[in-house]
Formats: sequence, structure tokens, C-alpha cells
Amino acid sequence: MKEKINSENLPQHIAVIMDGNGRWAKKKGALRVFGHKHAVKAVRDVTEASAELGVKYLTLYAFSTENWSRPKAEVEALMKLLVSTIRKEVKTLIKNNVKLQSIGNTHDLPKVCQRELEEAKTLTKDNTGLTLILALSYSGRWDILNAVKNIANAVKSGEINPDAIDSNLFSKYLSTDKIPDPELMIRTSGEMRVSNFLLWQLAYSEIYISPILWP
Ligand code: IPE
Ligand code: IPE
Ligand code: MG
Repeated sequence: MKEKINSENLPQHIAVIMDGNGRWAKKKGALRVFGHKHAVKAVRDVTEASAELGVKYLTLYAFSTENWSRPKAEVEALMKLLVSTIRKEVKTLIKNNVKLQSIGNTHDLPKVCQRELEEAKTLTKDNTGLTLILALSYSGRWDILNAVKNIANAVKSGEINPDAIDSNLFSKYLSTDKIPDPELMIRTSGEMRVSNFLLWQLAYSEIYISPILWP
């Protein structure tokens, strides 16, 4: 595949909705959590391939605001998996010059997840290769509402004039400030939905839906 890719014409930013873990597990006659565990390998492969190709930003939708309403046991398993994966993979991220970032309402995550995430971000902050952005407790509407609240406060305190609000200024208040919009959005498992992912940022992204299940 690598020979077929024109490195002069790579997207700078690829965003991925990693979907289909549950269906993949079901096909194997296993529990959904089995699918989430196997999804980690696909995350590793896609991250390594992106870094190797020279993609600058890779955003992975790992947990949505809506995913909090899944059964408690599944949510807990996902949070545990997040902690163990970050802990295990941080060395590889450093080795591959990958910088870890996150978007989303991460204060909602269990304390141990927050700590592990912050530590990994600090350890990789000076890396200059791929920036891997995990969307955690993220939704596009949350991102937009958060921006609106912060802009409203800035207007109230006189910091910004309402007439100065344009799409450029608005973008700066989103969690993706300083990150270019994705040129490409990939969703696995065939669903033709955006599922509250980067609603503002996907305005002009090409969309590729693959029938293949994420794991
Ligand atoms: C994506 O796989 C992973 C998360 C949303 C955390 P799903 O768990 O949505 O799997 P399906 O879509 O039910 O197969
Ligand atoms: C989107 O997948 C969220 C993530 C991949 C984290 P979902 O499986 O949660 O989305 P819906 O429910 O099919 O829209
Ligand atoms: Mg799904």
C-alpha cells in the first residue's frame, strides 16, 4: 500500500470514528468488551502507519458524550482499557516521536484516567512527529456549546466585541484550536452518520465510510 500513496499529497489531518467493536465481538460469539480489547491493536496500527507516512494530526473518536449512557459495566471496562493502554503505549509514542493530546470534557473521566492521560501528554509534549488526538467524552455539540459559553463570557467582560465574532475567532474557542480542520474523515463499520463528532471542523472534509469493523 505504501508505494501507492503519494507522500506529496497527504492529508495533514485525518479524523476517524472507530466503530464496530461490538459487532466484531458478536460475530466471534464474544462479549462487546472483547471487541474493545481488540480495537487497541487497530489503534496502534493506524497510529504507527500515520506517523510513518508523515500525517501531522490523527484524531480518534474513542468515547463520545453519548457513550456515557451505555451499560455501566461496558463504560467501566472502556475506562480501564483506556488507562492500561495509555500506560502500556506511552513508551512507543515516545519512541515514534508522537505527541499525545485530547479533546473533550475530560474532567468527566475517572480520576485515574485523567492522571494517566495528563502524564502521557506531559511525557510526549516535546515530540515533533504525529500529533495523536484522542476524543474522550467528546461531542461536537459539547465543543460548540463550550465555545459559545466562553465567547459569551469574553463579551460580557468586554474582552471581545460581538461584531468581531467570525468563523476564525470562533474556531479559536473550540477544543481543536491550532489544529487544522481534517481533510479526511473515516468511519468504519458502514454507518452513514457523523454521530456528533467534529461538527464544526468537518464542514469540508471528504468522508470515507468503510464497511470493515474497526478491530
Ligand atoms: C466503537 O464500537 C467503540 C465505542 C463507541 C467506544 P461500538 O462499541 O460502537 O461497536 P458497535 O457499533 O456496537 O458494533
Ligand atoms: C461513535 O460511535 C462514537 C465513537 C466511535 C467513540 P457510536 O457507535 O457510539 O455511535 P452511534 O451510536 O452508532 O451513532
Ligand atoms: Mg457503534
